[in-house]
Amino acid sequence: MKLSNKKMTRHAPPKASAMIEALRGLGYNTATALADIIDNSIAAKATTIKLDFYWSAENSCIRILDNGTGMDNFELDRAMRLGEINPLAERASGDLGRFGLGLKTASFSQCRKLSVASRKDNSIGCLRWDLDMLSKSKDDGWYLLEGIEKKSEKLFHDLNSIEHGTLVLWQLLDRIVSPGFTEQNFLNLIDRCEDHLAMVFHRFLEGANPQISILINGIQIKPWNPFLENRGSWSSPEVSIKTENGLVKVKGYVLPHRDKMDSKEFEYAGGPDGWTAQQGFYVYRNKRLLVAGSWLGLGQGRAWTKEESHRLARIRLDIPNSADAEWKLDIRKSTARPPVSIRPQLAQIADDVRARARKVYAHRGSYVAKGAGGPLIQAWQAEYNSGSMRYRIDRKHPSVKSLLEDAGALKLQIETMLKVIEETVPVQKIWLDTAEGKDVLRTGFSGDAPKEIMDVLDVIYRNLVLRKGMSPSLAKAQLLRTEPFQNFTDLVNSLPENLQN
Ligand SMILES: Nc1ncnc2c1ncn2[C@@H]1O[C@H](COP(=O)(O)OP(=O)(O)O)[C@@H](O)[C@H]1O
Ligand SMILES: [Mg+2]
Repeated sequence: MKLSNKKMTRHAPPKASAMIEALRGLGYNTATALADIIDNSIAAKATTIKLDFYWSAENSCIRILDNGTGMDNFELDRAMRLGEINPLAERASGDLGRFGLGLKTASFSQCRKLSVASRKDNSIGCLRWDLDMLSKSKDDGWYLLEGIEKKSEKLFHDLNSIEHGTLVLWQLLDRIVSPGFTEQNFLNLIDRCEDHLAMVFHRFLEGANPQISILINGIQIKPWNPFLENRGSWSSPEVSIKTENGLVKVKGYVLPHRDKMDSKEFEYAGGPDGWTAQQGFYVYRNKRLLVAGSWLGLGQGRAWTKEESHRLARIRLDIPNSADAEWKLDIRKSTARPPVSIRPQLAQIADDVRARARKVYAHRGSYVAKGAGGPLIQAWQAEYNSGSMRYRIDRKHPSVKSLLEDAGALKLQIETMLKVIEETVPVQKIWLDTAEGKDVLRTGFSGDAPKEIMDVLDVIYRNLVLRKGMSPSLAKAQLLRTEPFQNFTDLVNSLPENLQN
């Protein structure tokens, strides 16, 4: 065969219906798909985004209406096409998009019928994709339907009451309303979406003047902040790391111990996926949360996994949208991998936050809340010995010390009892019980009535003042440095100044 210089090519477009059916499987769920639609609204400067979930069995639908800039006919046409916008193009710094696919792929992951209507400069345009229609077409073309579908007209009326904005309508929700799916399932789905959006967009939703409000069926979503700022979290200073594609900012947080919250608060602070799952880095791109808790494949030696003992560690990481390729942002915007050049620095910061989080988790609040005016006298001490450790009762704890001093002939028996207790601490069982997190572990008088705490306090206080001859103020100061009384400042201060024998 003779080779010719002429380039031989053939035109090989994908079949529309097959291509779109394949794109449906990208791995979105309803909540992540909605987040992608909302990204577009935010990029279009919307301040109010209304989501409406209408239940009507297989005719159920979901509508997203924003008051953003809207699109004219040309822009709407571009917006509806797949592969129209080059992912390599530079984006405005506030833009939350990248691949030019989100509107379509997120929608198709949930529905077979997508209508987008937009209002700009007093005119309204509407274009639609209908997967059933495409699959029936004989020539595999990419046929966009024009205009609002007659029978759904009333769902678009709200566009008339805003000057500009965009309405996205998902109908034929075959991936949601599968056989056996009930209205209650639909309501639960709404709750899950609300939790997810409250988390993903919390930085847009919080503050005195929030940038946007999102309403679901008329009810405003409240932001969920992963870091419990102003609620007793420890935080590191913000560190800025220079990369080839802009500044990355990192700030570490250690959340307060479970004892510092009531059980409802604790449950809420855990987040949609719970405490253990939601530890690690929180990666934000233009304030929008991409990754809600991951160690990002970092580790000293091998990659860190999520463990109960590090559940209080959360690290905020801000990346610019100019670094998408470097961070390997995926189409769903749900994963991001740090570039090799900054991995060591991130690992070092994370290592420090993890160590602090582990200490707060293990030592209850005491690691952060030191005793007033000096180191805390703890009832239990951990003793390390060449690779092993054990727990010992501190003989200097006032309640133990005074007993041993006054024990006389009983001293040996008391020592024996302490040894038995120390040697039989049910470490494994406590570890399992708390790790499973089913029940709140009650220690340090948590949940006890003040009277019960007062009875114990009273005995120790009397001993210090009446038998050891300490002044009342000195005795109180010592109690405020003694576990677990450092947590009960008011009770300690209310102890009487004048004691009678
Ligand atoms: N709600 C909206 N308001 C205004 N323009 C929109 C809206 N949704 C989508 N667009 C336009 O459609 C384009 C394509 O959106 P999309 O498929 O999500 O890709 P990307 O967000 O990556 O650009 C956007 O770049 C934007 O110009
Ligand atoms: Mg988008």
